[in-house]
Amino acid sequence: MKKVSVRAAKGKYDVIVGRGALGQLPRATAKLGKNKAVFVISSPRVWRHHGSRIERLLGAARRKTILMNDAETAKNLSTVERACRDLVRAGADRRTLIVAVGGGVVGDVAGYVAASYARGIGLIHIPTTVVAQVDSALGGKTGVNLPEGKNLVGAFYPPQAVLADPDLLATLPPREFRSGIYEIIKYGVIGDVKLFEFLEKKMESLLRRDPAALQFAIERSVAQKARVVSEDEHESGLREILNYGHTFAHALESATRYRKYLHGEAVGWGMIAAAKLALAEGLLSGRDAERVIQMTRSVGPLPAWPAVAPSRLAAAMQADKKTRAGRLRFVLPERIGKVRCGVEVSPENLLRVLRECAAPQSAMRRRAGRSQ
Ligand SMILES: NC(=O)c1ccc[n+]([C@@H]2O[C@H](COP(=O)([O-])OP(=O)(O)OC[C@H]3O[C@@H](n4cnc5c(N)ncnc54)[C@H](O)[C@@H]3O)[C@@H](O)[C@H]2O)c1
Ligand SMILES: [Zn+2]
Repeated sequence: MKKVSVRAAKGKYDVIVGRGALGQLPRATAKLGKNKAVFVISSPRVWRHHGSRIERLLGAARRKTILMNDAETAKNLSTVERACRDLVRAGADRRTLIVAVGGGVVGDVAGYVAASYARGIGLIHIPTTVVAQVDSALGGKTGVNLPEGKNLVGAFYPPQAVLADPDLLATLPPREFRSGIYEIIKYGVIGDVKLFEFLEKKMESLLRRDPAALQFAIERSVAQKARVVSEDEHESGLREILNYGHTFAHALESATRYRKYLHGEAVGWGMIAAAKLALAEGLLSGRDAERVIQMTRSVGPLPAWPAVAPSRLAAAMQADKKTRAGRLRFVLPERIGKVRCGVEVSPENLLRVLRECAAPQSAMRRRAGRSQ
């Protein structure tokens, strides 16, 4: 178990990461104010798996548990309103402490509730997915979707503590688990060669959820994210490196209306495409590009690249917020462990990479067509 500190404008907070972190809950709540009433926000599924343990740990401090639907479609203002009204009816006041137990959806909603209720109340995150442990629970971004788009309403609201316990991941469905592994690979590529080399050797153990492998990978990823957001809380510079693979990923997600890929899977494809693009731009060596692609493939088969024209995907990227003055800019690797931000690429190279990513699928479709 490790303690990692994150600096935020509102003060620093600790992330306890590793096996046994959940056991620190009584101490963490006591530290934030002895007589605070604790309100838990979680989802029925997560609570079914882990609720009784958390109830035992919180004991009499727990005033109420609010269970919300944690489907991505429920990450909206109605869910925020319902949770706030539940809080009012249960007598929550300014001194209330929210403990958010769940994946990124629960964390983003509960975080936004904590940011807004009584203009801001205490918040502890207990992330229960890989994505939440290595990404969404750290950094203070909270918020919900609108029908017009994802994460359009929100606030920067850092938690007061995060307890990231890899043992909670034992109950995660296999596809959700694998999807989170792509974000771990991302941390290796953007800033941690040791993590990347570890993954090259130990991917099989990690996929088996071997506790030691999981602990190492999560700890290193948390350390990376903590370092980046401590230096750039409000996304004005360094934090951009976290978007490696994400310009492609967002285009794939929006072109398939968020139905085909889990986010991490889209990031998996995005990292492959970004490595190919970096190679085409002469930024990355062929060997390192191959290592990134190999590593991404070693997690397992990704849902196929979509049957969408490369020009349409390029247009979807143009619409993404990472364009400045109409020019497409990418976060591209220079070598394993180092990325460059704001790289403007040649449109020809981009289209070539998009065609290349689609190629195996079209070849397969052609073959399938011939055999009919
Ligand atoms: N705030 C940020 O900085 C940030 C960063 C990344 C992602 N996000 C957001 O996070 C969301 C995705 O979160 P996610 O990938 O964690 O998935 P999720 O919250 O959508 O959860 C995925 C599924 O796993 C289930 N689940 C969660 N923990 C479980 C456990 N321990 N055992 C069994 N089932 C469990 C959930 O009930 C759900 O069905 C998106 O809305 C995304 O926008 C936010
Ligand atoms: Zn991501």
